[in-house]
Amino acid sequence: MKIALVLLINFSLLVSAHCSSENEYDMLDRFLKLKRLKRLEMDQVSNKDITDEYSYSPVYVGPQDGLKDADKISELPGQPAGTDFDQYSGYVTIDPDHGKALFYYLTESPINSSTNPLLLWLNGVKQLQIVTGPGCSSMYGAVTELGPFRVNADGKSLSLSNVLFLESPPGVGFSYSNTSSDYVTGDAQTAKDSFTFLVNWLQRFPEYKPRDFYIAGQSYAGHYIPQLSKLIVQNNENGNQTRINLKGVAIGNAYVDGETQNIAKYDYLLAHAIISDEIHKGIFSNCFQEAYRASLCEYYVKQVEVAKSNIYVYDIYAPLCVLGKVSKSSSGFDPCSGNYMSRYLNTPAVQKSLHVKEMEWKSCSDLLDWKDNAWTVLPVIQDLMASGINVWLYSGDTDARIPVTSTRYAIKRLNTSVKTSWYPWMYQGEVGGYAVGYENNLVFVTIRGAGHSVPSYQPGRAYALITSFLKGQLP
Ligand SMILES: *[C@@H]1O[C@H](CO)[C@@H](O)[C@H](O)[C@H]1NC(C)=O
Ligand SMILES: *[C@@H]1O[C@H](CO)[C@@H](O)[C@H](O)[C@H]1NC(C)=O
Ligand SMILES: *[C@@H]1O[C@H](CO)[C@@H](O)[C@H](O)[C@H]1NC(C)=O
Ligand SMILES: *[C@@H]1O[C@H](CO)[C@@H](O)[C@H](O)[C@H]1NC(C)=O
Repeated sequence: MKIALVLLINFSLLVSAHCSSENEYDMLDRFLKLKRLKRLEMDQVSNKDITDEYSYSPVYVGPQDGLKDADKISELPGQPAGTDFDQYSGYVTIDPDHGKALFYYLTESPINSSTNPLLLWLNGVKQLQIVTGPGCSSMYGAVTELGPFRVNADGKSLSLSNVLFLESPPGVGFSYSNTSSDYVTGDAQTAKDSFTFLVNWLQRFPEYKPRDFYIAGQSYAGHYIPQLSKLIVQNNENGNQTRINLKGVAIGNAYVDGETQNIAKYDYLLAHAIISDEIHKGIFSNCFQEAYRASLCEYYVKQVEVAKSNIYVYDIYAPLCVLGKVSKSSSGFDPCSGNYMSRYLNTPAVQKSLHVKEMEWKSCSDLLDWKDNAWTVLPVIQDLMASGINVWLYSGDTDARIPVTSTRYAIKRLNTSVKTSWYPWMYQGEVGGYAVGYENNLVFVTIRGAGHSVPSYQPGRAYALITSFLKGQLP
């Protein structure tokens, strides 16, 4: 789409001198390592029913009159004339006593926006900053993945659904709380906050209440999405607050199960010629379960880091963002996109047009102290499947962080049988990836040649995938 292309160019011009080689610290990796050690301690305690933590109770609903109009974006800096869809952004207060508010950005479809479904997008973890847990901004998705101002191969990414980007929990992106203890948070609180946001947001945009509702996201959203969905289902069944028409969830390169993630990661590194047989064997005979030997395990984990060297684990074949060198990945993705985004979102005029308070926007939060995280959300996913929600787990197959093996092993543990066997799905005459349909509303899809952030690397294939997902049909 011409419009999208123009703004993308503006983005680049704005920041072309800023393509620094940020020291990429792999924080999800660090988080998962901490979790592995934690898990060893946690094994001693009894397994409490994790679903208790997400049980529904009525949430705060504030007055929303007039706020929608105030949230309408008249124009984003750099936006070309002729943009033919509406955009809104602003804060939704979820706890007035604490002064706690979540930031959202809504882009409506240029065509059929009044009948198209609503898709909520959630990002999880990204690697651009050092942080101690989850908590990266969904504006990453808006600006570098599936938002309107990035060119999709087919150029019509907005005609399909209205997309709502939510920065969650408070402390992430433009979302904040005036009570700093709210930054001590975790899975359960995040689900509650996001649910409170949705109930209030639908008061502000009541025309979306009857619409079909979908949630998509990636990475640590493998926790956010099932947990939030469970609250929605519980409210729909037993609650007395706004019914949310949740039809399906799609999670990309999803972190859903600690056990299989640990194993799958090393299998992927071995099969993709990144680590040796010896290191792989060393990990498996020293790092897991009864066989755990701390010092040997640590040694082999270090060997993995040495072997990996400076490849970009979120897309193992991608070039790095290096100052003064513009090289794009084979799929055309610019590895410095995150830098452009940070520069843009920290421009005062941009912040003004987005209706946010003036602040330093960071792609990942360094404010959060993440106190609870489920070791596995597979039981929650099983509940969703049983209640008729379509669950799609998709995977970009060049991601080594939450690799395709991780999703495959996790699906095995979901214990459901194959309905449509593994097949190549086609996009523009080429294999777009592979897909399997399972009983009980589960679908697995790979996207060939895509890294962790699938829409960034393979926008055309990602668009085909989301189209199928919203139709409830295999690609
Ligand atoms: C947070 O505090 C500021 C300054 O007092 C105030 O303007 C703002 O409305 C508060 N935020 C919320 C969500 O109440
Ligand atoms: C808009 O909706 C109409 C009526 O449902 C449909 O025929 C048409 O294909 C839709 N257009 C797009 C671009 O989705
Ligand atoms: C909704 O449920 C809560 C708790 O179950 C109750 O306190 C409240 O009065 C109910 N509200 C309405 C409008 O029924
Ligand atoms: C998996 O399915 C089998 C056969 O239906 C059943 O016996 C077993 O308990 C299931 N396991 C889990 C973890 O759900």
